[in-house]
Amino acid sequence: MTDTTLTDTPADTDARAVADLTLEEKASLTSGADFWTTTAIERVGVPSVMMTDGPHGLRKQSGGNDHVGLADSVPATCFPPAVGLSATFDPELAERVGAALGVESAIEDVAVILGPGINIKRSPLCGRNFEYMSEDPIVSGVMGAALVRGIQSQGVGASLKHFAANNQETDRLRVSSDVDPRPLREIYLRGFQRAVQDAQPWTVMCSYNRINGVYASEDPWLLTSVLRDEWGFEGLVVSDWGAVNDRVAGVAAGLDLEMPSSGGISDARVVAAVREGSLDESALDLVAGRVLDLVGKAQRRPAQAGPLDVDAHHALAREVAGRALVLLKNEGGMLPLNPAQKVAVIGAFATTPRFQGAGSSLINPTRLDTALEAIVEYADEDTVSFAAGFRIDGSGDATALRAEAAATAAAADVAVVFLGLPAAAESEGFDREHIDLPADQLAALDAVVAASPRTVVVLSNGGVVALPFAGDVPAIVEGWLLGQAGGSATADVLYGAVNPSGRLAETIPVRLEDNPSYGNFPGENGHVRYGEGLFVGYRWYDERGLDVTYPFGHGLSYTSFEYGRPTASLAANGDVLVRVAVTNTGSRAGREVVQVYTALEGSSVQRAPRELKAFESVAIEAGQTREVELTVRREDLAYWDIRVDRWIVEGGAYDVHVGASSRDIRGVVVVEVPGDELVLPATADSSIFELLADTTAGPRLREILGQAFGVGDAADGMLQLVGSFPIGRLATFPNVAITREQVQELLGGA
Ligand code: BGC
Repeated sequence: MTDTTLTDTPADTDARAVADLTLEEKASLTSGADFWTTTAIERVGVPSVMMTDGPHGLRKQSGGNDHVGLADSVPATCFPPAVGLSATFDPELAERVGAALGVESAIEDVAVILGPGINIKRSPLCGRNFEYMSEDPIVSGVMGAALVRGIQSQGVGASLKHFAANNQETDRLRVSSDVDPRPLREIYLRGFQRAVQDAQPWTVMCSYNRINGVYASEDPWLLTSVLRDEWGFEGLVVSDWGAVNDRVAGVAAGLDLEMPSSGGISDARVVAAVREGSLDESALDLVAGRVLDLVGKAQRRPAQAGPLDVDAHHALAREVAGRALVLLKNEGGMLPLNPAQKVAVIGAFATTPRFQGAGSSLINPTRLDTALEAIVEYADEDTVSFAAGFRIDGSGDATALRAEAAATAAAADVAVVFLGLPAAAESEGFDREHIDLPADQLAALDAVVAASPRTVVVLSNGGVVALPFAGDVPAIVEGWLLGQAGGSATADVLYGAVNPSGRLAETIPVRLEDNPSYGNFPGENGHVRYGEGLFVGYRWYDERGLDVTYPFGHGLSYTSFEYGRPTASLAANGDVLVRVAVTNTGSRAGREVVQVYTALEGSSVQRAPRELKAFESVAIEAGQTREVELTVRREDLAYWDIRVDRWIVEGGAYDVHVGASSRDIRGVVVVEVPGDELVLPATADSSIFELLADTTAGPRLREILGQAFGVGDAADGMLQLVGSFPIGRLATFPNVAITREQVQELLGGA
């Protein structure tokens, strides 16, 4: 960039800079120079900038280049991956993590960190669920936006990924996600829309897959009509690494930057297409201009000297991990532990933590805490014993390992058993085939429970696992994947230094077979049909009235909270303001995650019985009451109307459920919401019923029908019979006294 770049507005700079470039230079700008950097144009002083993975830490490669986590990368703080971060239900905390990621990126001169990933967890089998936030679009969007804001507060760009409907790893480079418009808008795009509109990420990464048959990387509807024209996205669209199928079509669709480098092949195709007239040069100018804009933003980043404050970031990783742990069960106040208790720590994960997932997000942590060491720190001297119980890779003499674990547990007051998924069980690149923990681990747990019923289970897993032992042990802590400080954070929670406040951002089902995508995952022959439609996650379990092991939003605390009666009112802008007083009725300070769900009885469209619309994590001192105010945005009440292709808020009396989980509703209040005007075009294809509801055509049609059928019960009965007929067809139907002229008059006047 020339010096003027730093002071001009990006738009001015871009216009001049693009005009300064040759056709070949413009084309070269729109694809990477190598694996991680954009192409420099030295002649006019355009530097190259670097993008690297994340997103729960920085993965700046120091040796070879790859996108599957094989080669080394510089040490960086490994924060809890998205599966852990989202369980905090706390966007402020996510923003702080984002800021720390921004600082680490800036120190390493990285312009864009490739995350967050906010794809919906459609199936618990998706191999990459640990990198995603939730089965719910509001949680995904709110938490995603917060991370983006944090990262970008440091003058570093984020990359919201993978846009869109990339909900599985099987055949991910080709598969077509076949999704109907309502679920696509209301479930799969809603989180992206929220994050784009609230946080304006510098970049959005398009996904590998096709959506309803069209590759995301060359879909003008997705990348331009929806993303830019509807949502107002102002940044750059980058391809996922290797997602480009047809680069020329991509340029026309609004895919600004192809990554990584195509070795000049794509650039040559783009140049040829412009020369032969099949690609408009103005389309190339637009995408090249956006690359210049991104480079300009990166250039304006405030200096970040470093070195990295490893201790401070490790402490933040520990704080976040402590907030991410979800206390699923705590019968008889088993937890927190008392330092004087004799504790048998069982399970190889206590010494070899599983703290992140495999693939492109693999971070090289600056340090790594183990739970066993941290437990020893908390406990009184000589109170902690350890037995591996099993080997993570399933090797060894399982019977002997089990026997040792049982004996260790029998000699202690309490057993804490660390179970989890081996790293090989879940990864980017493939999906899981089941949701079971390894059989040898379950057998080890059985042996321990037989020896010591006072057993606490601590889980480490990126994707949901079935908990067949949920009724057999008094306490369960879901630890997800917690990053480099997960071991010490787990001890913080076990000993009560941190009062748990994590919540389930995804349902733990009883059986995989209960999951809504079951039978439609991962599809076949290049297509996966999203047959469950809107009913993803808890929406499905609630609609079907199915039992779950633990519901969406669930999580316990060492204290207790009581809810007052909620109130709801309409704000001037149409949002619904919900207020509720929450009292900490226990004896220690804690955090409650207050959740607001809405429902509309008798809705004209299909809806889940309850949909999350707002949440708030609040800290409350023992004995104190806090007035919690939550905002349900009017636009979040809208459904996507396929007849008019836009969002519609249906008017009516909405039930506002306020509670501690999707199945622990503490109060309901009704709020009357005015609807959006919905004018359906009156055509010959409109049904009688539709036209009767039309304010213009309705009264005249009533007259015509009165003449044709008379009035009274017989006429009403007739209307029931013919009401669903398109009016045009009724006019040609034998023995119906409605003329074509009357229909024409009606539609002309409608
Ligand atoms: C992943 C992206 C990642 C990129 C670069 C791809 O395989 O899907 O999430 O950012 O590689 O490593």
